[in-house]
Order: sequence, then C-alpha cells, then structure tokens
Amino acid sequence: MPVLGDAVLEGLRAHEAGRFADGTLGGGGHAELILKASAGNWLGGSDRDGAAVEAASSRLAPYADRVEIRRGKFSDLLKWIEAGTLDGILLDLGVSSPQLDEKERGFSLQQEGPLDMRMDKTQMETAADWVNTRPESELADLFWRDGGERQSRKIAKAIIYSRKDSEIKTTTQLAALVEKACPRFGRKVHPATRVFQALRIAVNDELNELREGLPKVCSLIKPGGRLAVITFHSGEDRIVKKFGREEARDYDVPGEEDVPDMRVPRPARMRWVNRKAIRASECELEANPRARSAQLRVLEMIGE
Ligand SMILES: C[S@@+](CC[C@H](N)C(=O)[O-])C[C@H]1O[C@@H](n2cnc3c(N)ncnc32)[C@H](O)[C@@H]1O
Repeated sequence: MPVLGDAVLEGLRAHEAGRFADGTLGGGGHAELILKASAGNWLGGSDRDGAAVEAASSRLAPYADRVEIRRGKFSDLLKWIEAGTLDGILLDLGVSSPQLDEKERGFSLQQEGPLDMRMDKTQMETAADWVNTRPESELADLFWRDGGERQSRKIAKAIIYSRKDSEIKTTTQLAALVEKACPRFGRKVHPATRVFQALRIAVNDELNELREGLPKVCSLIKPGGRLAVITFHSGEDRIVKKFGREEARDYDVPGEEDVPDMRVPRPARMRWVNRKAIRASECELEANPRARSAQLRVLEMIGE
C-alpha cells in the first residue's frame, strides 16, 4: 500500500469521478489507487525520473484509456494539462523505494554504488561533482541547512582533506569518511544519513522546485478541487505550510514583513482541509517503516 494511501484518496475525494494529476508518479502506486477509486477517474501523471515513468507506465497499462503519462518535473505539468481543469493533484515528494534500492543510482549509503543521486539522469551535476568541487563552506552550510547535521563543519573539513588525495567516487567511500570523522558511539542511525539527505536535496534542487512548483500546480486546480502533498523532510513541510498560509489568508503583504497596517485586502484563494498534518498510523508504520517521517497536508481551491 502506498504511503498514507487511504488519507490521500479521502483528501483528494478520488472516489467521486474526476480529473486528477500525480506529479511524482514513482512506481505508480498512488496513481493506481486513484484510478481504482472510481472507474470515471482520469489521471495525468509525470515524474522527472525516466525509470519511474517506465515502471509507472507498465503498472498503469490496464487503465491506458484514462491515463496520460509524460516525463518531466511537476512544475511543468502546466505545459500539457489545461489550467483550472483538475479536481485534484498529488505530490508525494522525496525519493522512491526503487531509487533507494538500486545501488547504481547512488542514493543509498548502505550499498556500494557511484555517488550519483540524480533523479533525472539527463541532468549534468551528480553528488560526486558536489563533494569533489564545492568549497568547504558551501558543503558545511548545505549539510547544516538541508540535513540538520550538527557536525557539518567537521564533515566538510574531512571531505576537503580526503579529496586532496583522491576523488570521492562512491557512496560507501563517502559514508566511511563521514563515519571516521564522526564515529557512531553505539548509535543505530548511520552518521552519514543527514549528509546523504542534504546532498540528494541539493543535487535535485528539490526545495526550489517545490517553492516554484506549488503555485504552478495550483493553477491547474478548478474551484473546489484539492492539492495533497506528502513531505518527508522538515524543509519541505515548511515550504508547504508557508504556501498554504499565504493562499489561505485574505490579504496580500507588500514586502517581506507582514505589517497589519500595510495589508492589501483580497479574497482567500485556498483553504486548509485539515488543520494539522496527517501522519501514518502505528499499523501502517509496522508494515512500512519508511512512512515514519511522512506528513500529508491538503488544501482546497476556493470556489468562485
Ligand atoms: C516518493 S516517490 C513517489 C512514489 C509514488 N507516489 C508511488 O506510489 O509509487 C517520489 C517520486 O517523485 C519524483 N520526483 C521528485 N521530485 C520531482 C519533481 N520535482 N518533479 C517530478 N518528479 C519528482 C522522484 O523521481 C520519485 O520517483
């Protein structure tokens, strides 16, 4: 069962026939649930990863007459789906299980593979390029900001020291180097976990894509339609919350700070369907421990 599957169907009201989009198809698990939820559902799906598009296309082949799949970023959905025509959109962010499980993709610190981490293989810069060319301060800032790594400076220093001798080429080479700089001291979680997360986010420019993509995907939704976003990282969730807060308020704020006297009134554009993020139940966590950090937020486009 895909992460928070029932909550996604309920959030998108996918049991009522409608037009939906899944901007992060992955293996097509959520997309299949949406198509099964009503025989009247149409779904447009995309993913920036060619392997995911292939996997989702074969999984969704039985629904071919009501599915359209293209490769691309979710911020590009507008290029082929008409604005204001969708009843619901799903974004299930982050990395997929096949991406993590295939060692050649370089996402996993547990398995030896090239230090790659590109979701879109046509993109130029890999994680190896990042660790072998970026200045120490930039790496340290990245590990701190997007990984929440407290030992970021120490790790960046160890990387610079190591790459003077030879390039860091593999996942296990980087993992071992981080572990040497910051020993585990009995901790279960590998010391390089946060570094790997931060590098993945940077290589795929994930936070900018989300910031810039949210307004674009929302322009596809018709009044009364919904946006469901699953995040796995506090940085992603902050962006979704900020976007939702701004859409749900009935005024614009000129400038950076919200000064009450300067507010410019306008109608609210969206409303929160749930006050709090929805999380996986204990039962789901037992079957799928990767759902532990998942948070689902749902917004509804306000009718005219
Ligand atoms: C968690 S997986 C989705 C799993 C999917 N919901 C399922 O049920 O199989 C996330 C997917 O989003 C894709 N992805 C991440 N950022 C993207 C973006 N900006 N545009 C398009 N796809 C993206 C990744 O390549 C990955 O396949």
